[in-house]
Amino acid sequence: MLYRLRAAGTLLGVTDNTLRGYADHAGIAVRRASDLTPGAPAVRVFEPDTLFRLAQWRRAQNYVKAPAAGSGPVVVTVDVIKGGTGKTTTSVETALHLQLLGLRVLLVDLDVQANATQLMGYEPDLTLDEAEAYGVAPAAIVQDTFASVLMPFLEGRQRNQPVRTLPAGVIKKPFGEHGPHLIPADTFLGDIEPALANAKGQRELYLRQLIAASLAGATPGLDLSVYDVIVFDCPPSVSFTSTAAIAAADLVIAPIRLDAFSVKGLTKLMSEIDGLDAAYHVRPELIILPTHYAPQLARIGRMQTQLNQYRDLIAPCAISASEEFPKSLDSYLPLTLQKPTCHPSKEYRLFAEHLHGRILALAAARRRTAS
Ligand SMILES: Nc1ncnc2c1ncn2[C@@H]1O[C@H](COP(=O)(O)OP(=O)(O)OP(=O)(O)O)[C@@H](O)[C@H]1O
Ligand SMILES: [Mg+2]
Repeated sequence: MLYRLRAAGTLLGVTDNTLRGYADHAGIAVRRASDLTPGAPAVRVFEPDTLFRLAQWRRAQNYVKAPAAGSGPVVVTVDVIKGGTGKTTTSVETALHLQLLGLRVLLVDLDVQANATQLMGYEPDLTLDEAEAYGVAPAAIVQDTFASVLMPFLEGRQRNQPVRTLPAGVIKKPFGEHGPHLIPADTFLGDIEPALANAKGQRELYLRQLIAASLAGATPGLDLSVYDVIVFDCPPSVSFTSTAAIAAADLVIAPIRLDAFSVKGLTKLMSEIDGLDAAYHVRPELIILPTHYAPQLARIGRMQTQLNQYRDLIAPCAISASEEFPKSLDSYLPLTLQKPTCHPSKEYRLFAEHLHGRILALAAARRRTAS
């Protein structure tokens, strides 16, 4: 993908002139269309990698707010106990915007459906042999998943031994070093559910403990301290995996489809959070994000009445219904990067700005508690 000034400026949330200034001062090479296509105008064109570099440069200049060094990642779990509400779309689009806002984001796909992995450009269903047969680049397939991280951790715990070194390729960098990173999923991810179910002890807390162990340097091959945010995309059903992801979270985002009655899934999620609080004194903050919004839908009025009881938890923005989202999944590229200036991409940007504020507040509160 290549973006002209307007689209690139939209992705970084700045005007054309500001972006020109960045391009002149950041010392990051920006290409011209004429370099790539003979006869094209000599206008600047930005690749995703260039934009992510500029986002990190802007952070280094203190032009944007970021958590203080050493805060450790804020964990954001996207979950609601209902299928097809926009969890994966929200995880991916939000992860991209947070990265463009200057944060360092790790997205973790916890769903064997692997839609987040696919949206980030990978083929979760192909083996290496099949990839070769179909002419798919080996780098585009998935070999290690979150199972490659969690299983050694659980083994170490059960045997009271140090965690063995994790595979170097477990973290994918679909848009380069400076873009959001990804721990992908494939069908083997299914192994973690029985492993968690059979684990002794407080299995709901293992994911939280894994993150803590990584921050203490006890997971060789996986350093989570380099991230400001970890985003977990959860499967739709109740599972040990998603419960552990909620227990690990500082913040849970529950996307609720406004064109379908998904409030029950929200009620179940809230009682799950209450249960974790009662058992372990962990209570992530909850943000409800209305999705599939379309003003003409009669059901929306009724849904909004139901949602009113949760009004303090509802994000100050919603995501419109748009056919562009399913198309973006089919083309293995998030909508934000495909059509940065379209309305739903901008709505996810607004949501990410809201979330950014919450993340900064949570990181600051954590530092205050630690000192
Ligand atoms: N705002 C939206 N408007 C229209 N379609 C959307 C919207 N958000 C997501 N979709 C589409 O709805 C389908 C389900 O979305 P998504 O995969 O994000 O939901 P999910 O909650 O992760 O689903 P699952 O429960 O299967 O994991 C996808 O085809 C997606 O492209
Ligand atoms: Mg999903």
